[in-house]
Amino acid sequence: MVEQYNPTVMDHFMHPRNMGDMENPDGVGHIGNPQCGDIMEMYIKVKDNVIIDVKFKTFGCGAAIASSSIVTELVKGKTIEEALKITNQQVVDALGGLPPIKRHCSVLGEDALKSAIDDYLKKTTGKGIEGWQPHEEEEHAH
Ligand code: FES
Repeated sequence: MVEQYNPTVMDHFMHPRNMGDMENPDGVGHIGNPQCGDIMEMYIKVKDNVIIDVKFKTFGCGAAIASSSIVTELVKGKTIEEALKITNQQVVDALGGLPPIKRHCSVLGEDALKSAIDDYLKKTTGKGIEGWQPHEEEEHAH
């Protein structure tokens, strides 16, 4: 399996960025993949509509850990609106590609981020992301 991952993915898997807990986060995201059982949590701190800090905890495969790590790098310093535009394809691109059977792991990264923003918006405006729902799992090769 390991040899399927490119050096960027391996780097984020072996040295994840922004991993751990956050004290008093403004938004908490929690996403699980029912098929593989992997779980991702993401915490954001928001100031003046900008995500100034982000942390994650992932209990899952290497690709899921690398995806969450790179999401935290992509999202730091972005406004809520910009962060909402991040897609799992961007996650895959930023990682320099993922093996096809591991692409679904990047979806967890996108969904964990959106789940944290949804939580933040609910707390601050009373309404979450309009029309947002976590992806349904389509193909999962295990
Ligand atoms: S997220 Fe489940 S195998 Fe990667």
